[in-house]
Amino acid sequence: MKKTEYLNKIIQGDTVAILKTLPDEIMDMGVTSPPYNKGEDKKGWLVKNVKYSGTTDKLPEDLYQNNQIAVLDELFRITKEGGSFFYNHKLRWERGEMFHPMDWLRKTKWLIRQEIIWDRMIAANIRGWRFWQVEERIYWLYKPKGGNLIGEELKPRHSLSTSIWRFQPEQKNPHPAPFPLALPVRAIFSIMDEKKGIIIDPYCGSGTTLVAAKILGHDFIGVEISEDYIKSAESRLQNYRAELKYANEEMAKHIVMKTFKERKERGEFTGKYSGKNNKKSDEQKILELF
Ligand SMILES: C[S@@+](CC[C@H](N)C(=O)[O-])C[C@H]1O[C@@H](n2cnc3c(N)ncnc32)[C@H](O)[C@@H]1O
Repeated sequence: MKKTEYLNKIIQGDTVAILKTLPDEIMDMGVTSPPYNKGEDKKGWLVKNVKYSGTTDKLPEDLYQNNQIAVLDELFRITKEGGSFFYNHKLRWERGEMFHPMDWLRKTKWLIRQEIIWDRMIAANIRGWRFWQVEERIYWLYKPKGGNLIGEELKPRHSLSTSIWRFQPEQKNPHPAPFPLALPVRAIFSIMDEKKGIIIDPYCGSGTTLVAAKILGHDFIGVEISEDYIKSAESRLQNYRAELKYANEEMAKHIVMKTFKERKERGEFTGKYSGKNNKKSDEQKILELF
Protein backbone atom coordinates (compact mmCIF):
# COMPACT_ATOMS: atom_id res chain seq x y z
CA MET A 1 0.00 0.00 0.00
CA LYS A 2 1.25 3.51 -0.83
CA LYS A 3 1.75 6.14 1.90
CA THR A 4 -1.04 8.34 0.48
CA GLU A 5 -3.45 5.41 0.88
CA TYR A 6 -2.81 4.85 4.59
CA LEU A 7 -1.45 8.01 6.23
CA ASN A 8 -4.08 9.88 8.27
CA LYS A 9 -6.73 7.48 7.00
CA ILE A 10 -9.03 4.87 8.50
CA ILE A 11 -8.85 1.74 6.39
CA GLN A 12 -11.92 -0.45 6.37
CA GLY A 13 -11.42 -4.22 6.60
CA ASP A 14 -10.18 -7.11 8.71
CA THR A 15 -7.18 -6.10 10.83
CA VAL A 16 -4.78 -8.93 9.90
CA ALA A 17 -5.53 -8.63 6.18
CA ILE A 18 -5.03 -4.84 6.20
CA LEU A 19 -1.85 -4.94 8.31
CA LYS A 20 -0.30 -7.38 5.83
CA THR A 21 -0.57 -4.70 3.12
CA LEU A 22 1.42 -2.10 5.12
CA PRO A 23 5.21 -1.65 4.65
CA ASP A 24 7.81 -2.72 7.26
CA GLU A 25 8.91 -0.37 10.08
CA ILE A 26 6.67 2.64 9.40
CA MET A 27 5.08 3.00 12.86
CA ASP A 28 6.44 4.77 15.93
CA MET A 29 3.83 3.41 18.30
CA GLY A 30 0.28 2.17 18.62
CA VAL A 31 -2.55 1.85 21.12
CA THR A 32 -5.52 -0.48 20.90
CA SER A 33 -8.26 -2.37 22.60
CA PRO A 34 -9.17 -5.39 20.46
CA PRO A 35 -12.47 -7.28 20.62
CA TYR A 36 -12.19 -9.41 23.79
CA ASN A 37 -13.96 -12.58 22.54
CA LYS A 38 -16.46 -12.25 25.34
CA GLY A 39 -19.17 -14.28 23.62
CA GLU A 40 -22.24 -12.25 22.82
CA ASP A 41 -24.81 -14.55 24.41
CA LYS A 42 -23.29 -14.20 27.88
CA LYS A 43 -24.64 -11.65 30.28
CA GLY A 44 -25.26 -11.30 33.99
CA TRP A 45 -27.33 -8.89 36.06
CA LEU A 46 -26.88 -5.35 34.74
CA VAL A 47 -24.36 -6.54 32.14
CA LYS A 48 -24.83 -4.90 28.80
CA ASN A 49 -23.91 -7.24 25.94
CA VAL A 50 -21.10 -5.87 23.80
CA LYS A 51 -22.30 -6.24 20.21
CA TYR A 52 -20.33 -4.63 17.40
CA SER A 53 -22.11 -3.44 14.27
CA GLY A 54 -19.67 -4.93 11.72
CA THR A 55 -18.66 -8.30 13.18
CA THR A 56 -19.26 -10.84 15.97
CA ASP A 57 -17.10 -11.15 19.09
CA LYS A 58 -17.37 -14.89 19.43
CA LEU A 59 -14.67 -17.33 18.34
CA PRO A 60 -13.36 -20.62 19.78
CA GLU A 61 -10.72 -19.37 22.25
CA ASP A 62 -7.76 -21.03 20.48
CA LEU A 63 -8.70 -19.38 17.16
CA TYR A 64 -9.14 -16.05 18.92
CA GLN A 65 -5.72 -16.23 20.58
CA ASN A 66 -4.01 -17.31 17.33
CA ASN A 67 -5.65 -14.39 15.55
CA GLN A 68 -4.39 -11.96 18.22
CA ILE A 69 -0.86 -13.40 17.88
CA ALA A 70 -1.04 -12.87 14.08
CA VAL A 71 -2.23 -9.26 14.60
CA LEU A 72 0.48 -8.51 17.17
CA ASP A 73 3.24 -10.03 15.02
CA GLU A 74 2.13 -7.96 12.02
CA LEU A 75 2.17 -4.87 14.26
CA PHE A 76 5.70 -5.81 15.35
CA ARG A 77 6.80 -6.01 11.68
CA ILE A 78 5.40 -2.57 10.79
CA THR A 79 6.78 -0.88 13.95
CA LYS A 80 10.21 0.79 13.94
CA GLU A 81 12.93 -0.59 16.23
CA GLY A 82 12.61 1.20 19.57
CA GLY A 83 8.84 1.52 19.01
CA SER A 84 6.08 0.65 21.49
CA PHE A 85 2.57 -0.73 21.44
CA PHE A 86 -0.04 -0.36 24.21
CA TYR A 87 -2.45 -3.31 24.22
CA ASN A 88 -5.56 -3.07 26.42
CA HIS A 89 -7.21 -6.35 27.43
CA LYS A 90 -8.61 -8.07 30.49
CA LEU A 91 -8.78 -11.34 32.41
CA ARG A 92 -11.72 -13.49 31.29
CA TRP A 93 -13.26 -16.76 32.55
CA GLU A 94 -14.99 -19.45 30.52
CA ARG A 95 -16.72 -22.20 32.56
CA GLY A 96 -14.33 -21.51 35.44
CA GLU A 97 -11.12 -21.50 33.35
CA MET A 98 -9.20 -18.24 33.37
CA PHE A 99 -7.80 -16.77 30.17
CA HIS A 100 -5.00 -14.29 30.83
CA PRO A 101 -3.63 -11.96 28.09
CA MET A 102 -0.13 -13.28 28.96
CA ASP A 103 -1.29 -16.67 27.55
CA TRP A 104 -0.82 -15.30 24.03
CA LEU A 105 1.36 -12.21 24.56
CA ARG A 106 4.33 -14.41 25.47
CA LYS A 107 3.95 -16.19 22.12
CA THR A 108 4.37 -12.96 20.10
CA LYS A 109 7.61 -11.31 18.96
CA TRP A 110 7.18 -8.36 21.36
CA LEU A 111 9.11 -7.80 24.55
CA ILE A 112 6.64 -7.26 27.41
CA ARG A 113 7.91 -4.06 28.98
CA GLN A 114 5.23 -3.48 31.61
CA GLU A 115 1.83 -4.64 32.79
CA ILE A 116 -0.31 -1.67 33.79
CA ILE A 117 -3.54 -1.98 35.74
CA TRP A 118 -6.38 0.16 34.44
CA ASP A 119 -8.56 0.75 37.51
CA ARG A 120 -11.97 1.59 36.06
CA MET A 121 -13.37 1.88 39.61
CA ILE A 122 -16.71 0.50 38.42
CA ALA A 123 -17.97 -2.30 36.19
CA ALA A 124 -21.40 -3.55 35.22
CA ASN A 125 -20.97 -7.17 36.33
CA ILE A 126 -21.81 -7.47 40.01
CA ARG A 127 -22.40 -11.25 40.28
CA GLY A 128 -20.65 -12.91 43.21
CA TRP A 129 -18.69 -15.69 41.52
CA ARG A 130 -15.55 -13.67 42.16
CA PHE A 131 -14.64 -10.35 43.79
CA TRP A 132 -15.99 -7.47 41.70
CA GLN A 133 -13.66 -7.18 38.71
CA VAL A 134 -13.25 -3.44 38.10
CA GLU A 135 -9.81 -3.53 36.49
CA GLU A 136 -8.48 -4.13 33.00
CA ARG A 137 -4.87 -4.49 31.89
CA ILE A 138 -2.72 -2.46 29.52
CA TYR A 139 0.44 -4.12 28.20
CA TRP A 140 3.32 -1.90 27.17
CA LEU A 141 4.97 -3.94 24.40
CA TYR A 142 8.39 -2.96 23.11
CA LYS A 143 10.38 -3.65 19.91
CA PRO A 144 14.04 -3.61 20.97
CA LYS A 145 16.55 -1.48 19.08
CA GLY A 146 19.72 -3.37 18.18
CA GLY A 147 20.38 -5.79 21.02
CA ASN A 148 19.17 -3.39 23.72
CA LEU A 149 16.23 -4.98 25.53
CA ILE A 150 15.89 -2.14 28.05
CA GLY A 151 15.32 0.88 25.80
CA GLU A 152 15.23 4.57 26.67
CA GLU A 153 14.09 5.96 30.03
CA LEU A 154 10.80 7.80 30.22
CA LYS A 155 11.04 11.49 31.12
CA PRO A 156 10.36 11.90 34.88
CA ARG A 157 7.15 13.86 34.23
CA HIS A 158 5.72 10.74 32.59
CA SER A 159 7.21 7.95 34.67
CA LEU A 160 5.80 9.46 37.86
CA SER A 161 2.43 8.18 36.66
CA THR A 162 2.22 4.93 38.57
CA SER A 163 1.60 1.52 37.04
CA ILE A 164 -2.05 1.86 38.10
CA TRP A 165 -4.00 4.09 35.72
CA ARG A 166 -7.26 5.26 37.22
CA PHE A 167 -9.81 6.38 34.63
CA GLN A 168 -13.56 5.90 34.73
CA PRO A 169 -15.05 4.13 31.71
CA GLU A 170 -16.13 6.42 28.88
CA GLN A 171 -19.83 7.20 29.19
CA LYS A 172 -20.67 9.77 26.51
CA ASN A 173 -19.54 7.73 23.50
CA PRO A 174 -22.27 5.64 21.74
CA HIS A 175 -19.71 2.98 20.62
CA PRO A 176 -20.34 -0.23 22.68
CA ALA A 177 -16.76 -0.51 24.08
CA PRO A 178 -14.76 2.73 23.84
CA PHE A 179 -11.90 3.67 26.13
CA PRO A 180 -11.63 7.21 27.54
CA LEU A 181 -9.51 9.74 25.61
CA ALA A 182 -7.19 10.12 28.60
CA LEU A 183 -5.90 6.55 28.10
CA PRO A 184 -4.31 6.95 24.64
CA VAL A 185 -3.28 10.53 25.52
CA ARG A 186 -1.33 9.23 28.52
CA ALA A 187 0.29 6.42 26.50
CA ILE A 188 1.23 8.53 23.47
CA PHE A 189 2.37 11.62 25.39
CA SER A 190 4.50 9.50 27.75
CA ILE A 191 6.29 7.59 25.00
CA MET A 192 6.58 10.24 22.31
CA ASP A 193 6.99 13.29 24.62
CA GLU A 194 7.95 16.14 22.20
CA LYS A 195 8.85 13.81 19.26
CA LYS A 196 6.37 13.49 16.40
CA GLY A 197 5.61 10.25 14.56
CA ILE A 198 3.00 7.84 13.23
CA ILE A 199 0.52 6.20 15.62
CA ILE A 200 -1.67 3.18 14.74
CA ASP A 201 -4.87 1.80 16.20
CA PRO A 202 -5.65 -1.49 14.41
CA TYR A 203 -9.14 -1.74 16.00
CA CYS A 204 -9.88 1.97 16.09
CA GLY A 205 -13.66 1.82 16.75
CA SER A 206 -14.93 5.35 17.33
CA GLY A 207 -11.41 6.75 16.78
CA THR A 208 -10.35 7.60 20.35
CA THR A 209 -6.64 6.80 19.74
CA LEU A 210 -6.69 8.69 16.45
CA VAL A 211 -8.18 11.80 18.09
CA ALA A 212 -5.48 11.61 20.79
CA ALA A 213 -2.76 11.29 18.11
CA LYS A 214 -4.15 14.24 16.16
CA ILE A 215 -4.42 16.47 19.25
CA LEU A 216 -0.81 15.61 20.14
CA GLY A 217 0.38 16.52 16.61
CA HIS A 218 1.06 13.02 15.20
CA ASP A 219 0.09 11.29 11.98
CA PHE A 220 -2.14 8.25 12.41
CA ILE A 221 -3.46 5.08 10.80
CA GLY A 222 -6.75 3.49 11.82
CA VAL A 223 -8.13 0.08 10.88
CA GLU A 224 -11.77 -0.83 11.55
CA ILE A 225 -14.24 -3.30 10.09
CA SER A 226 -17.47 -1.37 10.75
CA GLU A 227 -18.53 1.37 8.37
CA ASP A 228 -20.70 2.95 11.08
CA TYR A 229 -17.79 3.29 13.51
CA ILE A 230 -15.54 4.68 10.77
CA LYS A 231 -18.11 7.39 10.10
CA SER A 232 -18.26 8.36 13.75
CA ALA A 233 -14.44 8.30 14.03
CA GLU A 234 -14.12 10.55 10.98
CA SER A 235 -16.60 12.98 12.43
CA ARG A 236 -14.70 13.04 15.77
CA LEU A 237 -11.43 13.69 13.90
CA GLN A 238 -12.98 16.64 12.08
CA ASN A 239 -14.26 18.07 15.36
CA TYR A 240 -11.21 17.12 17.44
CA ARG A 241 -11.03 20.60 18.99
CA ALA A 242 -14.17 19.78 21.00
CA GLU A 243 -12.10 17.16 22.89
CA LEU A 244 -9.01 19.32 23.50
CA LYS A 245 -10.01 20.07 27.09
CA TYR A 246 -10.09 16.35 28.02
CA ALA A 247 -6.64 15.82 26.49
CA ASN A 248 -5.33 18.92 28.28
CA GLU A 249 -6.66 17.65 31.62
CA GLU A 250 -4.55 14.50 31.19
CA MET A 251 -1.46 16.38 29.96
CA ALA A 252 -1.64 18.77 32.92
CA LYS A 253 -0.93 15.77 35.17
CA HIS A 254 2.47 15.19 33.50
CA ILE A 255 4.41 17.66 35.64
CA VAL A 256 7.23 17.26 38.14
CA MET A 257 8.91 20.01 40.12
CA LYS A 258 12.23 18.14 40.36
CA THR A 259 13.73 15.44 38.17
CA PHE A 260 15.09 12.16 39.62
CA LYS A 261 18.63 13.47 39.01
CA GLU A 262 18.02 16.74 40.89
CA ARG A 263 16.50 14.89 43.83
CA LYS A 264 19.43 12.52 43.99
CA GLU A 265 21.95 15.39 43.81
CA ARG A 266 20.18 17.13 46.72
CA GLY A 267 20.08 13.92 48.74
CA GLU A 268 16.30 13.97 48.81
CA PHE A 269 14.02 10.96 48.85
CA THR A 270 15.33 8.32 46.47
CA GLY A 271 13.26 5.42 47.67
CA LYS A 272 15.79 4.41 50.37
CA TYR A 273 14.85 4.63 54.04
CA SER A 274 17.03 7.36 55.54
CA GLY A 275 16.14 7.06 59.21
CA LYS A 276 15.44 10.83 59.30
CA ASN A 277 11.91 12.22 59.46
CA ASN A 278 10.80 8.78 60.46
CA LYS A 279 7.63 10.15 62.01
CA LYS A 280 6.36 10.87 58.49
CA SER A 281 4.71 8.09 56.56
CA ASP A 282 6.18 7.07 53.21
CA GLU A 283 3.06 8.45 51.60
CA GLN A 284 3.63 11.88 53.21
CA LYS A 285 7.26 11.87 52.03
CA ILE A 286 6.25 11.07 48.48
CA LEU A 287 3.55 13.76 48.46
CA GLU A 288 6.11 16.37 49.56
CA LEU A 289 8.09 15.72 46.39
CA PHE A 290 5.42 17.16 44.13
C1 LIG B 1 -12.99 -2.57 21.87
S1 LIG B 1 -13.47 -1.88 20.36
C2 LIG B 1 -12.36 -0.53 20.15
C3 LIG B 1 -12.93 0.77 20.68
C4 LIG B 1 -12.01 1.96 20.55
N1 LIG B 1 -10.86 1.83 21.42
C5 LIG B 1 -12.76 3.24 20.89
O1 LIG B 1 -12.37 3.94 21.88
O2 LIG B 1 -13.77 3.52 20.24
C6 LIG B 1 -12.93 -3.03 19.16
C7 LIG B 1 -13.26 -2.63 17.72
O3 LIG B 1 -12.71 -3.63 16.85
C8 LIG B 1 -13.57 -3.73 15.71
N2 LIG B 1 -13.28 -5.05 15.11
C9 LIG B 1 -13.67 -6.27 15.57
N3 LIG B 1 -13.17 -7.24 14.78
C10 LIG B 1 -12.45 -6.64 13.81
C11 LIG B 1 -11.66 -7.12 12.73
N4 LIG B 1 -11.53 -8.44 12.48
N5 LIG B 1 -11.02 -6.22 11.95
C12 LIG B 1 -11.14 -4.87 12.19
N6 LIG B 1 -11.88 -4.36 13.21
C13 LIG B 1 -12.51 -5.23 14.01
C14 LIG B 1 -14.97 -3.57 16.27
O4 LIG B 1 -15.88 -3.15 15.27
C15 LIG B 1 -14.74 -2.53 17.38
O5 LIG B 1 -15.03 -1.23 16.92
